Amino acid sequence: MTAAGPGGKATSAPLMGRDPEPTLFELSSPGRVASNFRTTGVPEWAAEELVPAAHLREAPAPIAEISERDLVAHMTRLSHRQFSVDLGAYPLGSCTMKYNPKLCDDAVARAGLADVHPAAPASLTQGWMALLTDLESALCRITGMAAATLQPPAGAAGELTGLLLMRAFHGAAGEDRRRRRVLIPDSAHGTNPASVTLGGYEVTQVPSDDRGCVDLDALAARLDDDVAGIMLTNPNTLGLFEEDIVAIAGAVHGVGGLLYYDGANLNAILGVTRPGDMGFDIVHMNLHKTFAVPHGGGGPGAGPVAVTERLSSYLPGPRPEAAGDGTYAWVEPERSIGRIHSWHGNALALARAWSYILANGGDGLRRVSDAAVLNANWLRHQLRGTYDIPYDRPCMHEFVASATNLKRAGGLRALDVAKRMLEEGFHAPTTYFPLIVEEALMIEPTETESPQTLAALAQALREIAGDTAEEGHAAPRTSPVGRVDEARAARRLVPTWDARSDA
Ligand SMILES: Cc1ncc(COP(=O)(O)O)c(C=O)c1O
Repeated sequence: MTAAGPGGKATSAPLMGRDPEPTLFELSSPGRVASNFRTTGVPEWAAEELVPAAHLREAPAPIAEISERDLVAHMTRLSHRQFSVDLGAYPLGSCTMKYNPKLCDDAVARAGLADVHPAAPASLTQGWMALLTDLESALCRITGMAAATLQPPAGAAGELTGLLLMRAFHGAAGEDRRRRRVLIPDSAHGTNPASVTLGGYEVTQVPSDDRGCVDLDALAARLDDDVAGIMLTNPNTLGLFEEDIVAIAGAVHGVGGLLYYDGANLNAILGVTRPGDMGFDIVHMNLHKTFAVPHGGGGPGAGPVAVTERLSSYLPGPRPEAAGDGTYAWVEPERSIGRIHSWHGNALALARAWSYILANGGDGLRRVSDAAVLNANWLRHQLRGTYDIPYDRPCMHEFVASATNLKRAGGLRALDVAKRMLEEGFHAPTTYFPLIVEEALMIEPTETESPQTLAALAQALREIAGDTAEEGHAAPRTSPVGRVDEARAARRLVPTWDARSDA
């Protein structure tokens, strides 16, 4: 197994073994505890008085009893069985898994940020409110928008927020009932149509042309005064820049619709161009992809939504605002759609993104995008001739290759390539997405990988392409879990520790 080691050189990494790790219950031993507090300080009579008798346990909770030392060893062993962004390249197209600088961990671990209760009054949280308003204005400058909400806790939550804003905007013009369709290209991320449906709209799909971009004639044929808006990501999910974006914006605005920008791919354009300049009205950002907020395991993320001036009074509230005298206050926008998340969103994810923006500065953010685009194009060139590349022209921060040529020759399928990469010490790329590319391998090397790591990644992908179908099907052979029976796992999922193996 190889992985990128010190200096970016490929090294042998004893990543994972197949020995089963016992569960905490199996490690449990009666009477062991991981804490060593002599007393909670609450006298027994007070505890009895404070906790209603009906809520008191009759017997101790059935939890594992384990010492701190054994607990830490167990967790550390488990962590060594995971692939992570800290361990090696993670070229997961669309989802952007890049290395997150430790500086950002340090910044948000500070007590002044981490130990503040979200219910603390504004008089005690002025520093936090200054941070949030500074972050908001930086995000507006980056996207070319007028105001933003920081509440949504993920990209998909940002999408729903954006659609609710769209609905409120059309509703105020008395057009909510008539405008019931939202257009989405056929290359779009799955959350887009899901959010449209959740927002109470109907999805109208727009086909891509043979260059992988929105087909302008097909778009024109679908535009009417019942269209509420269009959702686009630019670069799109093929990693291609929608060059006709100004014409698209003109056409959608022409029928009274709004343009929604899915900002999950923002790390391709930082400091180069802005959704606001392209004509978008609503933008969500995935801080957990673009601005060094880790998002493995589902979060917590942050999906702020920024809007143009004409939509700002609908934003979720309360919002932190500078009062003009050096203090900050929570303000409810005039026609607010209400809360989209409790408190102020995932505040520490927001602070982490702010530390990343500050550490890079404007020119640093521009370099982030330049490197992301350069790396993706370099890798695309390296794979030419080995894999099919359906849209083989300059891409942005990611590109889509295809294993169709290998499959046709009786070799590997995209899934086999992905599993083999795990054996080579790399995370697998996104497979079978976008749906319009057969045997898709969607690769995003990100800006954080060195030229040596990229060369090792390209080399591994080229070698894998020469494998026989049998070798591909056997992979992964080096991870703690081999190829799972996905159909069985979906239909007969047994997530409990004490499940019988034949359950
Ligand atoms: C293009 C695109 N849009 C939206 C999302 C949804 O973001 P989240 O996973 O934060 O909900 C993703 C996530 O991968 C994405 O790639």
